[in-house]
Amino acid sequence: MKKDYESRIQELLSKMTIEEKIGQLQQCGPSLVGAFDVSFDELLNMMFDGRISQEEFGRLMSTAEQDFHEEDLRAGRISSYNGVGDAGTADRLQRIAVEETRLGIPLLFGYDVIHGFRTVTPIPLAESCAWEPELWEKTGRVAAEEATAAGVHMTFAPMVDVAKDARWGRISEGAGEDVLLNSAYGAAKVRGFQGDDLSKENAMAACVKHFAAYGAGEAGRDYNRVDMSPQRLWEEYMPSYQACVDAGARAVMPAFNDINGVPCSVNSWLLRDILRERWGFNGLVISDSNAIAECVIHGIAADRKDAARQAILAGMDMDMASNTYIECLKELVESGEVPESVLDEAAGDVLRIKFELGLFDHPYRTTQKREQETLLRPEYRTIAREAAVKSIVLLKNKDRVLPLKPETKAALFGALAADKGQMTGSWAIGAKEKDCVSMAEACAARGLDWQYCGPDADEAVLQAAAEGADVLIAAVGETKEESGEAASRADITVSEEQMRLIRQLADTGKPVIVVLFNGRPLAIPELHELAAAVVEAWHPGVEAGPAILDILCGDVNPSGKLTTTFPAVTGQCPMYYAHINTGRPGGKSKFTSKYLDAPLEPLYPFGYGLSYTTYAYTGQKVEKKEDGIHVSVAVTNTGGRDGDEIVQCYVQQMTGRRVRPVRQLKDFAKISLKTGETKTVTFVIPYAGLRYYDWEMKETPGEGILKVYVGGDSQAELAGQVVL
Ligand code: GLC
Repeated sequence: MKKDYESRIQELLSKMTIEEKIGQLQQCGPSLVGAFDVSFDELLNMMFDGRISQEEFGRLMSTAEQDFHEEDLRAGRISSYNGVGDAGTADRLQRIAVEETRLGIPLLFGYDVIHGFRTVTPIPLAESCAWEPELWEKTGRVAAEEATAAGVHMTFAPMVDVAKDARWGRISEGAGEDVLLNSAYGAAKVRGFQGDDLSKENAMAACVKHFAAYGAGEAGRDYNRVDMSPQRLWEEYMPSYQACVDAGARAVMPAFNDINGVPCSVNSWLLRDILRERWGFNGLVISDSNAIAECVIHGIAADRKDAARQAILAGMDMDMASNTYIECLKELVESGEVPESVLDEAAGDVLRIKFELGLFDHPYRTTQKREQETLLRPEYRTIAREAAVKSIVLLKNKDRVLPLKPETKAALFGALAADKGQMTGSWAIGAKEKDCVSMAEACAARGLDWQYCGPDADEAVLQAAAEGADVLIAAVGETKEESGEAASRADITVSEEQMRLIRQLADTGKPVIVVLFNGRPLAIPELHELAAAVVEAWHPGVEAGPAILDILCGDVNPSGKLTTTFPAVTGQCPMYYAHINTGRPGGKSKFTSKYLDAPLEPLYPFGYGLSYTTYAYTGQKVEKKEDGIHVSVAVTNTGGRDGDEIVQCYVQQMTGRRVRPVRQLKDFAKISLKTGETKTVTFVIPYAGLRYYDWEMKETPGEGILKVYVGGDSQAELAGQVVL
């Protein structure tokens, strides 16, 4: 039963000065100070554009220390910190807030716990390939146990931005291109992070982001414009955020981008009409980093003061890092441009989440002892390994070269086979490289005397290693810097250097097994041709090496399935399965929708993934019933190994008030089947699940002929059809 803090909130507000209310809207991060008289960002830019060398940058950084602006804190001008990730610092700052400010209002500590805190689990795009909400919740719970032990109260996650363009670096941070999967993923993470009682010391508030449609940036370029019909916004993007709000997320972060010309940070339709009025959200709305100030650059605000005015009137409660609120709000309230009632509402939202987290009654939620005892617990590593194994997708396995037999001698090639620091992927700011286990290390730990040939090995060494092995394993893909925020790529292939290695190995005539480490779909047709097997490992987290060997050596039968389409060439982007037919769907004849210089089909379709066994789908049945459309199918394990199969159910409405996608995922089920075993899977698609919007944005029920497809990927065969 959710407690009601409203009277305590109002009582506290009645005691607060305008300055103290504004102070509650300020989140800042520790700034770096040292023997450099420029901001840390400027120092980074100076290093990136070569104005100072890496060595000089390193020397300057060695003088750096964090400045937490304690004087501002004591003066009641700081409400929250971003990026405090250790119990000692959090405790020290909290004691200042509670014991040295006039009203003793506790701090809120926010942190980007995107896929694990210290026990880093696979990047979200990887974990989504497990198609397993129970797993997503479990790893969310582990993240909360560790992060709260380190003093974190709120995580800036889950990120549920549907992403259909593989050029976008942040496709790595969500659950791929499908809105139903992102919805299920986000809701599971909210449950995992928050648990059943936010006031418990091991619960952290979920902050769903980035609201909204950040993944639809034009051309896959980060922060770029988002311009789409309201129909598409509501059918393909908004449901994943709503699923998280419905699951009880207590914070929301508006996106950097605009929607149809109005930046989300100042979009009152989004933050008030929809989020608060229609969805009934009464939690905290916190800006993205510096996003309020950037509304000036967007061209929607005349200056910082105008940006602050628009943002708070639009429903933005807390300012992350732009300082526009702390600088401008007092004047805006005193001039009447911002009613004090609006300020009270924003400050009230901040106080509410602090009450819900129990911070007024128990402001000191953790200790360094609890932190030490919690981080990197062995059982967390076990869960990280389970998540990594389940995230791996087998994309090719010619002549069943995998799993390797115990006597098979392999050789390992490629920098990524030994570069443990890359295994965490992007947004793993609590990670420590030493915690990660690379493939090369895992081989040694497993007693495999597989020779590892580093990237600087010369031709002779490489040839010798190849000669001495039966199979050649090449680890290629992306570094973590090539993925995540501000990492859009205009050419989503592997580097020429890595392709040279693959060709060299293929020229030996021995089977080449490629292990991919990446944070996005890659357009790798030549690699696919040259490899005997392709294993998609993504950026798998701390247990990378052991998990990959579990699959390669056959301890575990791979079960992952893609949650994003892999284009064959970058030029096909954006490429996704739930596309519409057009009047001239791509085909052999000239006047159809296709490219002259690229194939029609993707390299690997959405929902695709191989197994070491095989499955047969029989006895499909599709029936209209009172509560929805009942779909059943018998799935048999027809191969020689037990395995887990992800059964997928898609629909296609053949006609409508607007044209409908050729496929839409409506349900999925992951089942375990012993060899030879058959299980019947039944899905019930509620009629409400078929609703869409007509030209006037009126919600419209499904109508006409509905085809239903059931199988192991988005190219599943027809199971039957009904007339709605
Ligand atoms: C970043 C990201 C956002 C993150 C925030 C705080 O710019 O856009 O996802 O939570 O800053 O670190």
